Amino acid sequence: MAAKRNPPPEQAPPSLRHIAVVMDGNGRWATRRLLPRSAGHKFGVDALKALVRGCIVQGVPVLTVFAFSSENWNRPADEVQGLMELFVQVLQRETATLVGQGVRLRFIGKREAFSDSLRELIGRAEADSASQDRLQLNIALNYGGRWDIVQAAQALAASGEPFSEDALGRHMCLAGLPEPDLLIRTGGEHRISNFLLWQLAYTELYFSDLLWPEFDEKALAAAIAEFARRERRYGGVPGQPVAAGLRVA
Ligand code: IPE
Ligand code: IPE
Ligand code: MG
Repeated sequence: MAAKRNPPPEQAPPSLRHIAVVMDGNGRWATRRLLPRSAGHKFGVDALKALVRGCIVQGVPVLTVFAFSSENWNRPADEVQGLMELFVQVLQRETATLVGQGVRLRFIGKREAFSDSLRELIGRAEADSASQDRLQLNIALNYGGRWDIVQAAQALAASGEPFSEDALGRHMCLAGLPEPDLLIRTGGEHRISNFLLWQLAYTELYFSDLLWPEFDEKALAAAIAEFARRERRYGGVPGQPVAAGLRVA
């Protein structure tokens, strides 16, 4: 009898080169279970690990996740403290596994505000994973889209190069990577919350009512299937072939 073969893993369309995710809803997930908000953040890490696996299986080369915004310092001090401790623990526990999976890590956001130990772990995770090329995972930590534009403008001004969209883009945090093709936000909110303002100009937006710890590989597959149904026009007309990305006259 012929051995039963597993079906090949589903592949995302090749036009899906970069997924960005606002991982929202951890606090509500925990509160609904009468747990402290910190428990939601902990389970949120498991959902992120599943997302990384899902992107690898589906062949999505770049993933950028929003883990802590520049506005999240406004939260109660104990929640902020708990999140910082969680980031340290996750980097200590998970970096080697991620490297083993072929994940290259990059952190975007302002690092000065972090403890020495967190900054050191970030630097080590980037260095240890630098030669990996299966999945580029960008983690936005103390990141704000407006900050990103300002730091790029400052760097460009300091370089003395003339201003243009291309030149400014070369100084943005995600320079050198394709812009996100798909933005997923969980948690039922329909807003950007100061995530990648520059880079999302022509990104397809997908909102899910699932709370982040509930977002699993099936939910990812549903988001990708919806992306595959979208027609991207970049200002053109239906049916017109378009070059991937923004074309500026
Ligand atoms: C997102 O979940 C995680 C972070 C912002 C760190 P929230 O903590 O915002 O969860 P809700 O939106 O309050 O449910
Ligand atoms: C956005 O979620 C930031 C992250 C997921 C890290 P928030 O929960 O901070 O966003 P708002 O406050 O609802 O806009
Ligand atoms: Mg939230």
